[in-house]
Amino acid sequence: MIRFSSKTIRRALTASALALPLLTSASVLAHDGEEGPQPTGVVKERMDAMKGLKDALMAIRGTLGSEETFDQAVVTENAKKISAVAGEPLLALFPQGTNEAPSEALDNIWTDWENFKIKSGLLKTKADALAVAEGLDASKAAFGEMAQSCGGCHKVYRLEKEQ
Ligand code: HEC
Repeated sequence: MIRFSSKTIRRALTASALALPLLTSASVLAHDGEEGPQPTGVVKERMDAMKGLKDALMAIRGTLGSEETFDQAVVTENAKKISAVAGEPLLALFPQGTNEAPSEALDNIWTDWENFKIKSGLLKTKADALAVAEGLDASKAAFGEMAQSCGGCHKVYRLEKEQ
């Protein structure tokens, strides 16, 4: 589990909104505030880990608005947090067939496991690249690629919600 200081989160929330077109909110929406069965066990662990990824991603995005808000240390620190979850640790949160309600994980994760592994590895590669990017422009470009690797996995392996 990864945790973030409230300062990091506050900074992300108060930083000026970014007009980066890469993230539709639907692709990173959390499971909060929904009715029905509550997640337990590894499904809950997995959702918590995903929320941690989202918090890190938002913290990074919050600094990329302008040279004034840009904070290299926040970018690097949070990219490293994402990298630490991506790859093998993320795969370990998907034991075979664990997609009971309210999980949004699709069955093809396990029938298509080799490709799922590649997508988890790609997130790690992109997060590592972001962690070593220097300056606002390079960080923005690397951030865009990393965020696409979140959506690239969700598009194929996560249930698309109507709302
Ligand atoms: C290798 C595939 C993969 C990658 C890469 C990935 N995710 Fe996910 N993500 C999933 C799957 C599958 C689910 C659905 C899990 C479930 O409901 O059991 C999910 C769910 C989520 C959720 C919803 C959690 C909840 O509370 O229901 C969020 C938020 C999320 N991901 C954010 C991210 C972010 C941000 C990134 C990139 C930094 C990312 N994910 C990268 C596969 C991935």
